[in-house]
Order: sequence, then C-alpha cells, then structure tokens
Amino acid sequence: MKRDFLTLKDWTTDELKEMIDTAIRLKKENKNNVRHHLLEGKKLAMIFEKPSTRTRVSFEVGMYELGGYPLYLSSNDIQLGRGETVKDTARTLSRFVDAIMIRTKGHDIIEELAKFSTVPVINGLTDDFHPCQVMADVQTIFEHTGTYDVKVAFIGDGNNMAQSWLFGAAKFGMDISVASPEGYECKPEIVAGAREVAKETGSTIELVRKPIDAVKGADIIITDTWASMGQEAEKEERKKIFSGYQVDKALMDATGKKSYFMHCLPAYIGQEVTEEVYESEASIIWDEAENRLHAQKAVMLKVMS
Ligand code: CP
Ligand code: NVA
Repeated sequence: MKRDFLTLKDWTTDELKEMIDTAIRLKKENKNNVRHHLLEGKKLAMIFEKPSTRTRVSFEVGMYELGGYPLYLSSNDIQLGRGETVKDTARTLSRFVDAIMIRTKGHDIIEELAKFSTVPVINGLTDDFHPCQVMADVQTIFEHTGTYDVKVAFIGDGNNMAQSWLFGAAKFGMDISVASPEGYECKPEIVAGAREVAKETGSTIELVRKPIDAVKGADIIITDTWASMGQEAEKEERKKIFSGYQVDKALMDATGKKSYFMHCLPAYIGQEVTEEVYESEASIIWDEAENRLHAQKAVMLKVMS
C-alpha cells in the first residue's frame, strides 16, 4: 500500500530516524561524488500553488541525483489553476508519475489529493504543515549536536513551521517550547495531537507567551517569517503584533548555554531576526537549507522505492 508523507504524525519514530540516517549517509556520499540511481526511471510531479526556491530546487536536484525525472508544474500552467478539481488532478497524474509533491494552501487540499491519487503524495508545504523542512532541520540539529536529546525554542507565529515542529519534537523525543502572541498560537487540536505522541517518547511540549520564557535552556532557537505566503495583506499589522518576537543576541544569550539559530528561510532581517544573529557563528541556516536536498532524497526513497 502507498504511504503518503503529509505530516510527521503518520510515521513512526523508528521510520523517521531511519530517514535521517539515510539523509546523513547520502550527504556524505554526495560529497564524495558517489551517486546511487536508486530512483532510475521514476517520475515525480511537483505542483506549486505558491512560490518556492529551496523546495523546488532541492526536489528537482534530488530527483536528478537519484536518476529520476522531476516535472515542475506551476498551478498557473496546469488545469488545476483554472478549476479542474484536485480529485481529477490526482487521478490523472497517478497515471503518469510515480509520486506527487505539492505545495498548496489548505491542508485539506493535500488530503484530497492523497485520497484520490494511487501514488504517494509528499507535502512540500501547506498552510498547516511543512514536514520536509522539519526533517532537514532535525538532520541539521543531529549533525551539529550529535543527539536528539535537545530543547528547541520556536519564537513567533504558530504557523506551518511551528506546528510541524510540534510533531517533529514529539516524534524525535525533543523538548519544545513555542512562544507566540495571543491569537497566533498553534491550533489546539494540533498541540493535543503532538502531546499524544509526546506521551510515548517523553518529550515536553510547552506553549508560552513570552520569548524569554521559551528560550531558557534551549539548544536551538528557531523562528520564521511573521507573514507567511498568502498573508501578504496582513504584513504591516503583523509587524506590530510580532514586534516583541525578534530573535536578537540578548535572546540567544538568554538560553544560558551554547545554542544554535535556525530559520527555514526566506528570512526578513530586522523583523523576526537581527542581522547580528542571522550572520553569527551560532547561525546554521545554510546547513539547514542544504539539508533540504539530503532529507528529501531520503523521504523520496522511503515512499517511492
Ligand atoms: N524553506 C522553504 O521551504 O523555502 P522555499 O519557500 O524557498 O521553498
Ligand atoms: N511559514 C512560511 C514558510 C516558508 C517556507 C510560509 O508558509 O510562507
């Protein structure tokens, strides 16, 4: 039976750790120019209903390196953009390709696509989740710290990144504290779902109001844009609401230990993060960006092999 990669919730800790191991191995092999054409002859449709730099390039390059063929499908160019249903798009593409990656809006859209496609569907970001990014983040953390036994502080909007991180932390047994302004917290049902998982792995999931309360003892501080794709009209209002949620040196120092800064990118310097932190030694954002390639190759191998 096909397995979709829509959220981390649907995969076991063992499966996810195995994917991270694969990603780390593939990265080493890549540096030594060892290429396995493990997806020789396989085709991946990549539907984008929102812009992308990292997701598009990492899936496209990843498919190429694995010997497969990626098809970039902007929703402006395919019939989906003119009203063909998600259901019919799923049934059509399933006859041509071996997997579908989609970046879309509502999470219900990817669920519909997965329901009607006979090939695996991979989430390249929805309004609620960005699981491939969290896999790359976890790989990056493991490479820098050598352990999953860390505390993560997520500062800012309770958006797709924060919500994916709740499941990421719960699945990998990490502790997480999310600081968000009132009205911008993670959805309660997603917090509850992550807490269920956390019961099995022993992680602590905490939601707080003030950034300073989230970062104490944190090994990693993560933030994201204050206005996600689709929220452009709220940009100015959000700048005011999130003004106390900037990651600056004082916040990094408040962890009380050596800690790293991460951001899925794109970043808006001077808003969610200061240039000083962004460009500092503690910032591991370029390793994080690179790891999109390796982590996604591991995900593709898992669902497409
Ligand atoms: N982090 C991330 O998903 O980047 P893109 O929007 O450039 O794909
Ligand atoms: N939260 C951001 C992540 C971008 C990769 C957005 O959805 O726009």
